[in-house]
Parts: sequence; C-alpha cells; structure tokens
Amino acid sequence: MKDYFTLAQEQADALRRRGSARVLAIETSCDETAAAVVEDGRTILSSAVFTQIDLHALYGGVVPEIASRAHVEKVDLMVDRALKDAGMELKDVDAVAVTYGPGLVGALLIGVSCAKALAFAARKPLVPVNHIEGHICANYLSHPDLEPPFACLVVSGGHSHLFSVEDYGVLRIIGQTQDDAAGEAFDKAARVLNIPYPGGPLLDKLAETGDPHALKLPRPKTEGRYDYSFSGLKTAFINAVHNARQKGEPLKDADLAASFRAAVVSFLVDKAMLAAEEKHLPRLALAGGVSANSLLRREMAAACEQRGIRLYMPDLKLCGDNAAMIGSAAYYRLMRGEIAGLTLNARPALRLVSA
Ligand code: KG4
Ligand code: ZN
Repeated sequence: MKDYFTLAQEQADALRRRGSARVLAIETSCDETAAAVVEDGRTILSSAVFTQIDLHALYGGVVPEIASRAHVEKVDLMVDRALKDAGMELKDVDAVAVTYGPGLVGALLIGVSCAKALAFAARKPLVPVNHIEGHICANYLSHPDLEPPFACLVVSGGHSHLFSVEDYGVLRIIGQTQDDAAGEAFDKAARVLNIPYPGGPLLDKLAETGDPHALKLPRPKTEGRYDYSFSGLKTAFINAVHNARQKGEPLKDADLAASFRAAVVSFLVDKAMLAAEEKHLPRLALAGGVSANSLLRREMAAACEQRGIRLYMPDLKLCGDNAAMIGSAAYYRLMRGEIAGLTLNARPALRLVSA
C-alpha cells in the first residue's frame, strides 16, 4: 500500500489537471472556531463559525488558554456542521485545508492537529494556509470577477498592510504599520470608553451618533511613504480622554468614538490613495476584520470613485475570521501543488512575504 504522502501528491496532481477541487477548510488561529467547504476557490458550499467572544469579553481580550480549550471543544462540531450543510461526507471532499499561522500557537495547533487527522484518515491532500492570505481571498468569494493584479489593504486585529497582489499567492508589501495594527488601536481606544472586547464593532456603532470634529487628534508620521502607525494616535486619544475627565469636562463618548474613528479612517484612506495614485493602481481591495468598519467602507468608496479606482470589499460576514476564506486560498495553493506532509506544524509568527 502507498504511503499517505505519495497518495496525497498523486491526488493533488490529479486535482491540478482537473482544475477543480472541493476543499474542507479549518480556521482556529484566534477566537473563532470555523470550518467550511469551498468549491474551486470561489463558491461557499457551507460555512460554520463559532465565535468565542462571550468567553473572552469578561477578561477584556483573548485569553490564549481559554481559546485553545474552546477550539478543542468546538472544532469537531464545526467540521461536522460544515460537511452536513454542504450535503457531504468527509470522503466526498478533495482536500483538507488549515490555517497554520500567524496566530496564537495553542489555538493554531488545534486546527492543525484536527486537519492532519482528517486528511490522514480520508487519505486526502493537506493544504497549509496563511491566515492573512485567507483574508485577502475573502474578496474572491464576494467578487467572482476579481483576479490579480490588484492592491489590497489588510486591516485586522494583528495586521495593517498594503499589499500588491501580483498573482494568486504572489504578494509584495507596499506599506505596513510600524507599530500597532488598526484593529488593535480600535480595541484599545474602545477600552477607555468602557466598551467591552472586541471594541472595534461597538465603537464603530457608537461613532455613528457622534461628532467627528469634537476632538482634534494628531496625524501620525511614518518613515516609509506608504507605511502606517497607530500607536501615537491611540496614546494621544487615551491621554485626551483622561485629561478631559480629570478637568471635569468629559466629552461625550459618542463624540470621542467618532473623532477616533475619523482619524484612523482618514489615515488609512489617505495613505492607500497616495499609493494608488503614485503607483498607478487601478484596483483596490479591502480585507480583515476592520474592513467591516462602516466609515472606512464609505470613505474608501468615495475616495476610489473620485479617482476612478475600482474598489472591492468582502461581504460583511467574510470580513472577520472564517474558514471559507481559508478554503478559497487553499484552492489556489492546491493548484500550485503546495501541499503539506503530516509533519506540518503551527507557525505563530508566519509571514506572508519574506521582504
Ligand atoms: O480579522 P479579524 O477578525 O481577526 C484578526 O485576524 O485579527 O479582526 C479583528 C479586529 C478586531 O480588532 C476588531 O475590533 C476589528 O477587527 N473590527 C472592527 C470592526 N469590526 C471588527 N474595527 C472597527 N470597526 C469595525 N466595524
Ligand atoms: Zn483574521
């Protein structure tokens, strides 16, 4: 009998020749336990997500041990649900994909171990996926006509990068944050306003009712022309809130939220537009949890329209962590023959490009 990896390689070669694959994908890099079945990188046959937010909210942030435990408890259930909703059994899928980094090591290990066990049991190829690449690929699920090349602004809890997506799986960094990620800044600003974790979505909602001009915040300076920086903005905001409170002249929370959101969004939009204009980028996509921000979506759409840039944004349900985006990225990796053996390990600090 052939060994597992020889068989997996033969199957992957056959799938490449066919140009088609139904992938079972697993995502457990942070605080969402998710599984999905995706066809040919573009069609979601099912997508199951268990969000652990309630488990972590009590502590004001993700507690790695609690995340790992919840992943262990839920990952099988999510896989079963994804298969059932797709009307399939494990033997019907062509490959098993998993996020192997970046993320929390204990959390990643649950998904990686589960995917290895399933791939081995079903004798199917195992496809390792980078979480950030997954976020970018969420756009392929929402926009069937989108193909590289395009620019992509990835804004999540851990990343703020402007990429040039030159081909499937071929990326170049145009700009990146020098310190905090945009989502991290939103969450920390929300915390001073006593908004529970994760603060970004609720701060966004509160900001809708506030005056964005109530508090003047500095425009961050960066070394690289297309780089970002959010740490100074966050500190300036926290100091301003504390000072106002100490002087007994607190501003309204909605006004504070609106001012902070406006400062972050105008910085994100202006830098992306600078890069788009100077580098002649006709197409821009957004990705990551912060791409659900309502002001970012509105302002980026307006700025792109003014300049004749075509903007792509993932559906709201695909902005945050999910496994469908991992299934999409996995398809393109599979088509390039990028499969892993059973020695695959979690890579908490995995990078997307070596530069
Ligand atoms: O991509 P994601 O789900 O997880 C990571 O890979 O990090 O991003 C989560 C981040 C959190 O910081 C969350 O507060 C932020 O995205 N976020 C938002 C909004 N929705 C999620 N930030 C601002 N406005 C939103 N509407
Ligand atoms: Zn993410």
